[in-house]
Amino acid sequence: MEIIEKIKQVANIVELASAYTTLRRRGQKFFGLCPFHAERNPSFTVDEEKQLYHCFGCGAGGDIFSLIMEKENLSFLEAIRFLAEKYHLPLPQPARLNPEVKKLEARLYEINELALTFFRRQLHQTAEGQKALFYLRQRGLDDKTIDELRLGYAPSSWNSLVNFLKEKGVTFQEILKAGLALPSQKNQEIYDRFRGRIIFPIFSLSGRVIAFGGRILGEGEPKYLNSPDTPVYTKGQVLYGLNLTKEAIRTAQELILVEGYMDFIALYQAGLRNCVASCGTSLTVQQVSLAQRFASTIIISPDGDEAGQNAAVRAVSICLEKGMPSKVVILPEKMDPDSFLRQRGKEAYLKLVRQPFLGFDFLLNNTNQNSKICLLNLALR
Ligand code: UTP
Ligand code: MN
Repeated sequence: MEIIEKIKQVANIVELASAYTTLRRRGQKFFGLCPFHAERNPSFTVDEEKQLYHCFGCGAGGDIFSLIMEKENLSFLEAIRFLAEKYHLPLPQPARLNPEVKKLEARLYEINELALTFFRRQLHQTAEGQKALFYLRQRGLDDKTIDELRLGYAPSSWNSLVNFLKEKGVTFQEILKAGLALPSQKNQEIYDRFRGRIIFPIFSLSGRVIAFGGRILGEGEPKYLNSPDTPVYTKGQVLYGLNLTKEAIRTAQELILVEGYMDFIALYQAGLRNCVASCGTSLTVQQVSLAQRFASTIIISPDGDEAGQNAAVRAVSICLEKGMPSKVVILPEKMDPDSFLRQRGKEAYLKLVRQPFLGFDFLLNNTNQNSKICLLNLALR
């Protein structure tokens, strides 16, 4: 394939590997701590001339493609796409994918990115946005976190995003397809879906903006509004935050699953990086499959209330169905991971995470007699 050759021409393994470890030149080669296993003394070598890497410690070795496949958890084709994107090389259109569909998808990514630029500008550069910023800071988020998660703000207006996008040459139809606006009942106009809300962009694994969640400032209904399903977003197939935490999850081999955007953010900011949020749906089979690519255990950390416990029962069952070992962290009633972290601190939370209930025990304690019999039958199968 021509694209492989093109990538090889422009990519440099030293640069790529440096994203995962610190390399130092020693003679003809580069040395560093191995990104594939934990070690104290560097046994990972990179040969710039041959464009290969090798670890004397764990035996890992290969070229740029295997490096990206391993470290980003991608298939060969996905690794090619990853590298092509990184080096701005055009990908050949796979024949089996409808070019029209691909074109629409690319356009939607572009529109979402434009919308996010707008939302972030609103948060940081407008008087109304200052209130949102104040709210976020008051809830303990620091500016670095707000930046890393690329949070934004949708102003209380019926059409400011629509107008912004229109000016950028986006058509009404495209805005509707992106799920960013709704058609008006009265006339041919469309109006902004997100109004007066803090915006949590949702990213694909490779970091493209695929959807948005919007939280009302303070109290009000509904608390969160989310993008509808679109050609680039299917609710229930995404884990919020995974684009940022996949590496940490892989290293830990344990994934902490929380319910809310704010819970994820609290953990992330506290430096607990092996977490994701399920984003408003109860955990799905697809989400567990996704998790299985990065971790061998899911630690479910629901809100302490009854709804949280019920969600955890469902989540454990789904994990059981997929053969994914699960554990459950139980918080005091009326607390969620975010409030627990803020009130009791990281160490207290970690202590609970280190002594979770086994998923199966949790199920037995939280289901009625009939379900228990079913469960035991399942276990004996
Ligand atoms: P929570 O109500 O626990 O939200 O809902 P939270 O993230 O802890 O937010 P704060 O702390 O009250 O600000 C958990 C998740 O359920 C989804 C959102 O993804 C939210 O993060 N949700 C909740 C909705 O989609 N719609 C809603 O109206 C409420
Ligand atoms: Mn909360």
